[in-house]
Amino acid sequence: MDNKAILTYIESNKQRFLDELFDLLRLPSVSADPKFASDVRKTADMVKSRLLEAGCDNAEIIETPGHPVVYGERIMNVNLPTVVVYGHYDVQPADPYELWDSPPFEPVIKDDKIYARGACDDKGQAYMHVKALQAMVETGSLPCNVKFMIEGEEEIGSRNLESFVKENKEKLSGDVILISDTGIISNDTPSITVGLRGLSYMEVEVTGPNRDLHSGVYGGAVANPINVLCSMIDSMHDKNGHITIPGFYDKVEELSLAEREEMAKAPFDLELYKKELGINEAKGEKGFSTNERTGIRPALDVNGIWGGYTGEGAKTVLPSKAYAKISMRLVPNQISSEISELFTDYFNSIAPEYVKVKVTAHHGGQPSVVKTDSLAYKAASKAFKEAWGKTPIPTRDGGSIPIVALFKEVLKVDVVLLGFGLDSDAIHSPNEHYGVFNYFKGIETIAMFYKHFVALKK
Ligand code: BES
Ligand code: MN
Ligand code: MN
Repeated sequence: MDNKAILTYIESNKQRFLDELFDLLRLPSVSADPKFASDVRKTADMVKSRLLEAGCDNAEIIETPGHPVVYGERIMNVNLPTVVVYGHYDVQPADPYELWDSPPFEPVIKDDKIYARGACDDKGQAYMHVKALQAMVETGSLPCNVKFMIEGEEEIGSRNLESFVKENKEKLSGDVILISDTGIISNDTPSITVGLRGLSYMEVEVTGPNRDLHSGVYGGAVANPINVLCSMIDSMHDKNGHITIPGFYDKVEELSLAEREEMAKAPFDLELYKKELGINEAKGEKGFSTNERTGIRPALDVNGIWGGYTGEGAKTVLPSKAYAKISMRLVPNQISSEISELFTDYFNSIAPEYVKVKVTAHHGGQPSVVKTDSLAYKAASKAFKEAWGKTPIPTRDGGSIPIVALFKEVLKVDVVLLGFGLDSDAIHSPNEHYGVFNYFKGIETIAMFYKHFVALKK
C-alpha cells in the first residue's frame, strides 16, 4: 500500500470530502420521530449513492419493518480478508433547537469544527469509512474486500437489526467488524475503546388520585404522585452512591487491582473535566474514580421526569399522575433483561399503598468488551501509531452500542471500535460538533488499519 498516494489523495480532495459530508448532514434523519421518516429514507438513498461513487461494486437499500439498512460491498478477491464496516446514518432529535448557536441541520465550520446534528454521531464518523474506501480505491491500494452495513435505527435501539443480522449471516460474513462510533481520550492521547456499557431503559408511571386536584383543597391530605415518585427515585441510591435494587450488583465483574491500576494510567484531568461541565464536584459511587464510574461500574439515571403543570406561570394543581424515564448503564456480566426485571420488581415493592405504579421496559442491550490480544486490535493499534505517532491506550467507554455484543455472538468475529470523537463534541446535545482534524485523521487511520490488518492476516 502506498501511504503517500493515499495521503496526497486525501489532501487534494479535502474540500470535496467536507462538502459531501455537509450534504449528508443537511438531511434531518431523526429516527425517533415519524415526522422525519422521509428524510431518513432520503439519507439512506444518499448513503447508497455515495457508496457506489466511492467504489462499491454493489450497494442496496434493504428494507426492515422500520428504517432501512444500507448495504454495500467491494469484493476484490474471495480469497482475501474482508472488513465489515458498521455505522449508523440516523441521528438523535435536535431539540432543544433554541440552544443551538446555528441551526442543527445547516452545517457550518467554526474554529475548525463541523457543527451539526450527527457531525460526530455518527454521520461524520461513518462517512470517514466511505472516503477511506474511495482513497484506497482511487490510489489502487485497497488490500482486501469490504462490506458496509449502515443502519438507520441505532439511536432508537437497533430494534430491527438483530433479525437482519441473523437472517444475513452469509452476506455479512467477514474477518473483522470495524466501527467508528466512539471516541478517543484527546487529540494528544489517542485511544481505542475496548469496553461499552449495556443498557436497560425503563419508563415508570405513578398514579395517585383519579383526577387532578386543587392543590389547596386537597394538598397535604392526598399523596402527590410527583412527590412520591421523587422519593422512590431518591431511594434507589444509598448515601455511598450504590444502587439499592436487590441483586443489582450480583453479576457485576469486579476488576483486579492490577487491572484498575492499568486503567488509571490513562491521563485524566479531573479539574478540567469539572471545568468543562461547569460543576464544582464530580459525584458517583464511593471508592471509584471518575473513569471507573463510567467505564467499569453500572449507573442509574433519570433521563426525563414529568407530570402536573409545566406551562407558563403558575397553576395550582395536585396531579393525578407522574412519569419518569430511567436508564441503567450495565457492565459485564450483567444481563439487560434480568436487570429490567429486578428494577420492575423493586419499583413495585417500594411503591407505597397510596399510589399505583406501572413499569415498562424500553430497549436494552448487552455490554461488550474487546480483547486487546486479537489481530484486529493489533492492526488498529499499529494504524494509530502510524497516523498519530503514538500507541493508543485501551479505554472503556460509558456509552452503549448494543449491537456490538450481538455481532460477536451471531457473526463470531472480532470487533474493533476505531472511533475518533471527543467527549467535548456534545453528541446528543445542542451544538454537536466534530473536529475537521479528527475527520481527516480518521480517514487516514482507517486506511492504515486495512493495510496492517491484511498484513497481519498473511
Ligand atoms: N455512538 C453512541 C454510543 C457511544 C458514544 C459510545 C460515545 C461510546 C462513546 C451511540 O450512538 C449511542 O448514542 N448509543 C445509545 C444507546 C442506544 C441504544 C440508544 C446510548 O449510549 O445512549
Ligand atoms: Mn452513535
Ligand atoms: Mn448516539
